[in-house]
Amino acid sequence: MAGLSTNAIHGHEHRDGMGSHIPPVYLSVVYEYIDYELKEAVFVDRGNYLRYGREENPTTRALERVVAKLEAVEDALAFNSGMAALSTTFICSLKPGDKIVLPMELYSSTFALLDNIAPKLGVKVEKVWPSAEAIVEAVDGSTSMVFLEVMTNPTNKIIDLDYLSKHLDLSRVALVVDNTFTTPVVLKPSRYRAKLVVHSMTKYFGGHNDAVGGVVAGYKRDTTAIWDWRRVLGGILQPFEAYMILRGVKTLEIRFERHSSNAKAVAEYLANHSRVEEVMYPGLQSSPYHGVAKKLFEKPLFGGVVSFKIRGSYQDVLSFMRRLKVVKRCPSLGGAESMAVIPVKAGAMFIDPEQRARLGISENMVRLSIGLENVEDIIEDVSRALNI
Ligand SMILES: Cc1ncc(COP(=O)(O)O)c(C=O)c1O
Repeated sequence: MAGLSTNAIHGHEHRDGMGSHIPPVYLSVVYEYIDYELKEAVFVDRGNYLRYGREENPTTRALERVVAKLEAVEDALAFNSGMAALSTTFICSLKPGDKIVLPMELYSSTFALLDNIAPKLGVKVEKVWPSAEAIVEAVDGSTSMVFLEVMTNPTNKIIDLDYLSKHLDLSRVALVVDNTFTTPVVLKPSRYRAKLVVHSMTKYFGGHNDAVGGVVAGYKRDTTAIWDWRRVLGGILQPFEAYMILRGVKTLEIRFERHSSNAKAVAEYLANHSRVEEVMYPGLQSSPYHGVAKKLFEKPLFGGVVSFKIRGSYQDVLSFMRRLKVVKRCPSLGGAESMAVIPVKAGAMFIDPEQRARLGISENMVRLSIGLENVEDIIEDVSRALNI
């Protein structure tokens, strides 16, 4: 089996009559029926005829083949955003009477989606403390799905997938993992018997903050039904974005290494700074999640997201943010540019304040997505912004 970067570069398996080794952007929406029995229409490798751009697109299909290989599963379906991938997956998989168990720390729009759609679908949502033990405890006879992000946002807790795979009856409960923060460079949830793996490809897969996309990967027995829902809900990834993400994903592994080494250096710098109250980064030896991250991750790389608390008030956080120059004040993560957000004014705004306090998300907290710049420049920027 080829390595991750080899698959990221060559896994598209695109062939055409020109010998092009880069899959082109196929803008055609329609593909000709050679005859109306469809006998000679082009068959894509998933088994569907290439007919119409809302169903299949050859550029998008090339990216899907890459993602399936990266996640070590049979198939992948690309969507026009991470949220389109998630909404289609939930609509396809949940039915009236089901219960879905989630950690209470999750990407805010996923909460917004489930909080709104679950009552319409007749589905119960139970949010629990972000730990494998709490999730196992909440799963009962009506639970059809456990959905989680292994690395929580913004406090970087790590949920023990290994424990979940050993303590849940995964023949009955679907384990669905959003692998956006961890990426297959260090974690392949299918190895822990996750049924489906979801990504916002807008983040590390694309990697350049210039394309929005999402994907669901899994075995064909599970992706076939989602393909049908994608067709009718209409969320397929468009070919130009597929091309951009195919280009970005080639460097996923080397970028993730650099994101991780830069982030570790920034986390270590912050951990020794007198104006910093706490640093949340599983790559730090002192992190309570270091052990479980080391157990789960294939390599000692812990990603680009570092959260920390400034000793002081919300006003001190605002002054820090205003003084940043290299690090940009932007949402999102996983791109080449280092970026900072104040969680209580971003995603965590939608978490109930009492739960937020329990989770350790406070007004003096900053979340950094460490980019690919020279680490000395990032540290100098953070240092200048911290040192009044
Ligand atoms: C963990 C996670 N999942 C899903 C999404 C949604 O992805 P998109 O913005 O591509 O719709 C995000 C976006 O920030 C995310 O952080």
